Amino acid sequence: MNIAIVGATGMVGQNFLQLLKERSFPVTELKLFSSKKNQGKKISFRSQEFTTQSLQEDCFNNLDIAFFSAGEEVSQQWAPKAAQAGAIVIDNSSAFRMEKDTPLIVPEVNADQINQINGKKGGIIANPNCSTIQLVLALKPLHLNFELDSVHVSSYQSLSGAGRTALELLKKESQDILNKQSPVSLPSNEKSTAFNCIPQIGAIDEEGFSSEEAKLMKETKKILHLPHLKITATAVRVPTFNGHGEAVITTFKKSASKEEVITALTEAKGVKVLESDHLPHQRFVSGRDDVYVGRIRAVPEEKGKTWMMWVAADNLRKGAALNGLQIAETLVKQKN
Ligand SMILES: NC(=O)c1ccc[n+]([C@@H]2O[C@H](COP(=O)([O-])OP(=O)(O)OC[C@H]3O[C@@H](n4cnc5c(N)ncnc54)[C@H](OP(=O)(O)O)[C@@H]3O)[C@@H](O)[C@H]2O)c1
Repeated sequence: MNIAIVGATGMVGQNFLQLLKERSFPVTELKLFSSKKNQGKKISFRSQEFTTQSLQEDCFNNLDIAFFSAGEEVSQQWAPKAAQAGAIVIDNSSAFRMEKDTPLIVPEVNADQINQINGKKGGIIANPNCSTIQLVLALKPLHLNFELDSVHVSSYQSLSGAGRTALELLKKESQDILNKQSPVSLPSNEKSTAFNCIPQIGAIDEEGFSSEEAKLMKETKKILHLPHLKITATAVRVPTFNGHGEAVITTFKKSASKEEVITALTEAKGVKVLESDHLPHQRFVSGRDDVYVGRIRAVPEEKGKTWMMWVAADNLRKGAALNGLQIAETLVKQKN
C-alpha cells in the first residue's frame, strides 16, 4: 500500500510509524508530512530514511491510505483533497466524525460500517476520540448481553492526549516546581497541569459540557447506534504522561450477576478484565494494545442492573494510532 502520514512528527504520527513496523503492515511507498516548521526532518522507518514534507496541492497523488493526525484545521482543509485524489483518509481529528455519511469506526465494535466506503475510490473514515474508543469497547458487549439504559462516565485523561507541546510543558513545569518550591504552596493557575487536575477539556457549550465531554457522548451514541442512550460525561485532565482512565457507571435494562458481566467483557475482542491481582492503572495500560476493565462492582440497591467499573487504555495506541491502523487492516482484508 502507498501510505501517507500527515502529522508524522507528532505523538500520534510517531505511534503510527511504530505500529506500522510492529504489525508488519504492507507499505510500498511512504510519504511523511509535518508543518512547514519541521519540513526536511529525517525520520527512519524499517532501516530507510524518510524526509518530512509540508502539504501542498497534488501531494496526495497515487496514495492508497492517508492517516491524518495533524489537528482539526489541517484535516478540514486537506483531507477532502486527499480523498478526491483517490486516497482513503483515516482521520484522527474531530473534523468529520459526526457527519452523517462519514463512518466513525472502532473495528471490534462496528467494522461493518466501513462498507459505506467500500468500492469507492477515495473517501474519509473517522477515527473516534481517544476516550470514546475505550468506552465503546467496554460498552458494546454489555449492551449486547444486558441492553444499556444509561451511562455516566468520568474520565481521567493524560497529557499525551493533548499532544507533544502539552506533554513537554507538563515535564518542564513539574521539574521547575520540584526544583523551586513545595507543591503544596503552589499558586492557583487554571491552565497549569503539573500537580493539578483540570475539570475542563476544550470549550464549554451552552449546555455546560466541555467539547471533550460532548464528543464522548455524541460519538458513543453514533458508534453504538443508540441515539436515545442516556449518557453524561465529565472529562478531567490529570497530570499523568500517558493512558486514559474512565470511571463508568452504567445501568442495564436486564439484571446481571458479576460473573455474567465479567464473562461478557472477557469474551469481547480487544477487552481484558483485570480483577483482584492487578489494577488497570494508567502506567499499566501504557504501551499495551487492549482496553482494560477492572474494579467491577454492582450498586448494592440496584439488583444487578447498575454497575460501576474502571476502564483504561493507552490513548496513543488504541485511542488513536492502533485503532486507525486496525481500520486500514480491515480495509486491506476486505479488499483481498
Ligand atoms: N494524542 C492523542 O492521544 C490523540 C488521540 C486521538 C486523537 N488525537 C488527534 O490526533 C491529532 C494529532 O494529535 P497529536 O497528539 O499527535 O498532536 P501533536 O503531538 O501536537 O502533533 C501534531 C502534528 O501535526 C503536525 N502539523 C501541525 N500543523 C500542520 C500543518 N499545517 N501541516 C502538516 N502537519 C501539521 C505537526 O507537525 P510539526 O512537528 O511540524 O509541528 C505534528 O506532526 C489531533 O487531531 C488530535 O486531536 C490525538
